[in-house]
Amino acid sequence: MNSNTGLYHRFQQEGWQRAAAAYDAFWKDLTRPFALDLVRAAGVTRGTRLLDLACGPGYAAEAAYERGAIPLGVDFSPEMIRMAKLRLPLIRFCEGDARALEFQEHSFDAVIMNFGLPHVSDPGAVLREARRVLKPGGIFGFTVWAGPESNPGSGMVHDAVRAYADLDVPLPSGPDYFIFGSAEECGNELAEAGFKADSLVFQSKTRLWEVPSPSFLFEAELHAGVRTSAVLRAQRPEVLLAIQKEIERSVLAYRSGPGYAIPFTAHVIAVKGV
Ligand SMILES: C[S@@+](CC[C@H](N)C(=O)[O-])C[C@H]1O[C@@H](n2cnc3c(N)ncnc32)[C@H](O)[C@@H]1O
Repeated sequence: MNSNTGLYHRFQQEGWQRAAAAYDAFWKDLTRPFALDLVRAAGVTRGTRLLDLACGPGYAAEAAYERGAIPLGVDFSPEMIRMAKLRLPLIRFCEGDARALEFQEHSFDAVIMNFGLPHVSDPGAVLREARRVLKPGGIFGFTVWAGPESNPGSGMVHDAVRAYADLDVPLPSGPDYFIFGSAEECGNELAEAGFKADSLVFQSKTRLWEVPSPSFLFEAELHAGVRTSAVLRAQRPEVLLAIQKEIERSVLAYRSGPGYAIPFTAHVIAVKGV
């Protein structure tokens, strides 16, 4: 592990520890529905022994449990694990690093990761670990956000940051956020980690995120994440205000009932181990 990887890992861990409660408050109505798509794609059913990597407050473990599976959630943030245990006392959760799992090989029928991979300092190590702990014939499923060009929700944040932010801010650099953005890229990364790339199923799904106000998305990005949040918090006040106004202006186009319904697109990916 080089020093950049270690620095980025600590940046992520401290960030998620700080943002845990806000993450659950802001993002759960968006990422939880995709967890349903994910457990379906991973073939989770009654009795499936399942590992939910980077589980956060436990949405994907919860979706699996509701289908009769036997989930175990792992996250490197003690605060996320504390919240998951509080929300879901019947499910097992424990602290752990997705890059170096403390489980024996062939321990799980399925491994899933809902919006976790883009945040890890070494995605290749996570893929190799997922494959190692999967039983023969087991499935690894994960979700990632589609890139801003095909994802209206992410696109409006990306465009506002690009238009106004000073991106030359001192932050540890991490892997490309959109590394799993196409079936071809996924296939290459997964094959390198030893998965059966010819079993890959790559689906893109769009869901509407209902938010109460035009500022909700900006506030979520500012308070309830790590990478974009750090970029925003490093901006001068007038720049931050310009970014906020621009995002709010974009959200206004999605008026729906008393609030706003913003489309977000994610890739739901499933592949067989050995
Ligand atoms: C965007 S949140 C996703 C949370 C949750 N899976 C969901 O469905 O919304 C990313 C999560 O990844 C966790 N995480 C990031 N890097 C990790 C690592 N190396 N090992 C374990 N968890 C990690 C963070 O603590 C955080 O809970």
